[in-house]
Amino acid sequence: MAPTADLAVIGGSGLYALLDGTTHELDTPYGPPSDAVTIAEIAGRRVAFLPRHGRDHRHPSHRIPYRANLWALRSLGVRQVLAPCAVGGLRPELGPGTFVVPDQLIDRTSGRAQTYYDRGAVHVPFADPYCPRGRRALLTAAAGRDVTAVDGGTVVVVEGPRFSTRAESHWFASIGGTVVNMTGHPEAVLARELALCYSSIALITDLDAGVRAGESVTQDEVFRVFAANTDRLRDVLLDALAGLPGTQDCACGRALDGISLPFPLP
Ligand code: ADE
Repeated sequence: MAPTADLAVIGGSGLYALLDGTTHELDTPYGPPSDAVTIAEIAGRRVAFLPRHGRDHRHPSHRIPYRANLWALRSLGVRQVLAPCAVGGLRPELGPGTFVVPDQLIDRTSGRAQTYYDRGAVHVPFADPYCPRGRRALLTAAAGRDVTAVDGGTVVVVEGPRFSTRAESHWFASIGGTVVNMTGHPEAVLARELALCYSSIALITDLDAGVRAGESVTQDEVFRVFAANTDRLRDVLLDALAGLPGTQDCACGRALDGISLPFPLP
């Protein structure tokens, strides 16, 4: 029987496993996803877990097979995706260890395939890139675990793989950025292009170059702070999955209504 799931988590740097379950190698028209997908049952819901970078972190942020990942999840039947990630802080008052549940993003990536629709006229609404129901479930789960999570914020998504200069970082803050990372886009828009609900919980692992004196951000620092917070993040994610409503009655699921698609969705 073909594997199925209703919900999914795309794990970020340092979150390479979440569930004990059955493992499935999937393929898509865009190639294989980042790694095998694990499916398990949580609170009566079938949940798929996919490590964004692969279990051994073999895919750097700018080379992640984003299209294959979202397509593979949708082909399982997934309609709601929670996407934890590591971010740098752009506000001095939001230090390492703080969680943010963003409500906006600014795309500063370049050269990534960021659409499924290279044919036809398919322009999805994206004013609000994150699912309000997913955001609410994450915030409620964090509050229930006494984990401080900021409600709202703008993720600036950079191409990487390098970290930003101080001038870039100042500029990101001046245009309204709250945090900065390398994976939030095109993941969010590809989810929307498949009419999937998508929300993110971002863990601040460092203060970005513009808000710190002294040395630049280092990869070691990012991984170390993420590892120190993985248990808290896992608890919040598991509670959020259990708390998600069963039906998809938000605008995300209607993103393709009235649009004639050049090919059927999985
Ligand atoms: N991920 C974690 N910290 C980051 C930073 N400072 N810049 C970009 N991506 C990040």
